[in-house]
Amino acid sequence: MRTFSLLAQKGGAGMTTLAVHLAVLAESLGERVAIIDTDPQRSAADWWRARKLPRPAMAECEPKNLPKAIESAKKRGMTLCIVDTPPHAGQFAYLVAEAVNFNLIPCRPAPFDLRAIGKTVDIIAQLNAPAGIVINAAPANRGDTEMPVTIEARKVLARYNLPVSPVAIIDRPVYQHPMEDGRTYIEHFPTGKPATDIAALWAWVQQQMGVAPKARPNADSPVRPKVARVPANGDAPAANAAKPQGPVRQPQSAAAKAAGPVRPRPADQSGSPPPIAARGGR
Ligand SMILES: Nc1ncnc2c1ncn2[C@@H]1O[C@H](COP(=O)(O)OP(=O)(O)O)[C@@H](O)[C@H]1O
Ligand SMILES: [Mg+2]
Repeated sequence: MRTFSLLAQKGGAGMTTLAVHLAVLAESLGERVAIIDTDPQRSAADWWRARKLPRPAMAECEPKNLPKAIESAKKRGMTLCIVDTPPHAGQFAYLVAEAVNFNLIPCRPAPFDLRAIGKTVDIIAQLNAPAGIVINAAPANRGDTEMPVTIEARKVLARYNLPVSPVAIIDRPVYQHPMEDGRTYIEHFPTGKPATDIAALWAWVQQQMGVAPKARPNADSPVRPKVARVPANGDAPAANAAKPQGPVRQPQSAAAKAAGPVRPRPADQSGSPPPIAARGGR
């Protein structure tokens, strides 16, 4: 089982939005997905309850119980765990960053966000944890050309020395609301741009985790997007999508080395593992 987190110290970056869309998309391409909602606000879990569909599965857990929740998902036969996290996670962010195979850091292409992301990158650097950044809620491209705001954001993000997804997720109202039947827009319109962008982001995340993207959709899945490709916008030729690379690890900064390893607070061992909720007897 692979695990990745959505991690950002600033609220509103799009962690929950990307967690649920990537979960739906990955499930449709053959994964058995559990979202683990560790945010006390429970936005992802609320979405799931309103959805009334069995897949992807959902687990809610106290931050301290994350390792147990991941273990529990593995025992239930999940192949992918997506950990949605609270903003301002503080010490918990260290626990998350170490518990998963990859940390996806969403960032809006706006000055406050581009600065705030530094805190998250620091945590990643201190732990030497695998991570990458995705620009979220970018202005719509003109054809295949990104807007100056997005291009500028890429320049700023390049300073953080982490891989940046060549796919920026566009600011689209359709990502905000489930449809009346609880499904996401991308499930209803699997060949539309909102779905293919999420599919391309998923292909990139898989590359970062060192996994070849799955080409076989689940037969019973309502979502049938085309097999994702990583769009070439300069630095990620589509051919790479089939060639898994090892996870990208952040070189440890001199300051971080001098400070020594940062350890998360020890997890409380007393709690029982949170259940994975899956309707329909998965
Ligand atoms: N790409 C996007 N397009 C349109 N709205 C978005 C996008 N990403 C996030 N949002 C909206 O921004 C708000 C914050 O997103 P959310 O995923 O809850 O952030 P976080 O979980 O990081 O706090 C929500 O209202 C969400 O619907
Ligand atoms: Mg959230």
